[in-house]
Amino acid sequence: MNAATDTAPEATPDGLTAPPPAIEVRGLRTQFGPQVIHDDLDFQVEPGEIMGVVGGSGTGKSVLLRTIIGLIKPAAGRIAVLGQDTGRLRPADVRAMQRRWGVLFQDGALFSSLTVEQNIEVPLREHTRLRPQMRRQIAGLKIGLVGLPPDAANKYPAELSGGMRKRAGLARALALDPEILFLDEPTAGLDPIGANKFDGLVQELSRALGLTLVMVTHDLDSLHAICDRISVLIDKRVKVGTIDELMQLPDAWIQDYFRGPRGRAASASGERRLRHGEAHAGGLGVSKADTLNVGGEREDA
Ligand SMILES: Nc1ncnc2c1ncn2[C@@H]1O[C@H](COP(=O)(O)OP(=O)(O)OP(=O)(O)O)[C@@H](O)[C@H]1O
Ligand SMILES: [Mg+2]
Repeated sequence: MNAATDTAPEATPDGLTAPPPAIEVRGLRTQFGPQVIHDDLDFQVEPGEIMGVVGGSGTGKSVLLRTIIGLIKPAAGRIAVLGQDTGRLRPADVRAMQRRWGVLFQDGALFSSLTVEQNIEVPLREHTRLRPQMRRQIAGLKIGLVGLPPDAANKYPAELSGGMRKRAGLARALALDPEILFLDEPTAGLDPIGANKFDGLVQELSRALGLTLVMVTHDLDSLHAICDRISVLIDKRVKVGTIDELMQLPDAWIQDYFRGPRGRAASASGERRLRHGEAHAGGLGVSKADTLNVGGEREDA
């Protein structure tokens, strides 16, 4: 890539134009006052990739996500999302970009005074001029997509199980048909079976809808079962690779994390799940055209 067109598509050897990375972070520095969180951090996610993000508590995983989506201003460095340098966007362009990604924040953050349907309609109200009836129809569609029963539409978050709330949050993140989905600890607080189902749903949706997915997780099972590559935040930088590649690195944290007892168990269960095809939510084999069926599994626990 040359400096002048650093986010422009590259020509491949066969003459075709390769799409730009979904996310490209170069030389990122973030800091709060004197506290430096990331220093000269490089990070890239390819279109359609499922990227896991791990690291000890406080290493800056959530801050990285919030910086990529423009909620935190970097002290230095450059971030391009879908080929556009986010630091150079005008306000109108920022809004246009916000439509192209969906976010499920770490704290879930459904509006407690709104029903599930109304929650899903929030981004539709903010970013479109759709008529109320159309908004409701889209909300209903998303509710089906994430495997919630239709009667969840009129429930308030407090009336849902933890797993259902996560699904409702996912439905809201999907409201605008984003190209990139950011999930921050989506399975935290779920029991292993609920977490497993949620992972399967997320993986199935990502593949069926062609989404690029960036998922912060502490869940080793998720990492083994659904992520193409993993980014490990260590010492203000990031190490990126497949689990096998990362395990070749000498870092003590990585070794402990992936080779410790939990890592070995997750590796074994990931292999088992893949052998039995359980990593896919119900193994539905959906296409983009029939996404309504994707979340076919119902969860009411
Ligand atoms: N808005 C903010 N102002 C000041 N400091 C912040 C802010 N947001 C995060 N931090 C600090 O940045 C560091 C990284 O926080 P972050 O939330 O990214 O951690 P994390 O890796 O997501 O941790 P966890 O696994 O516990 O969620 C922490 O020390 C945190 O206190
Ligand atoms: Mg966090």
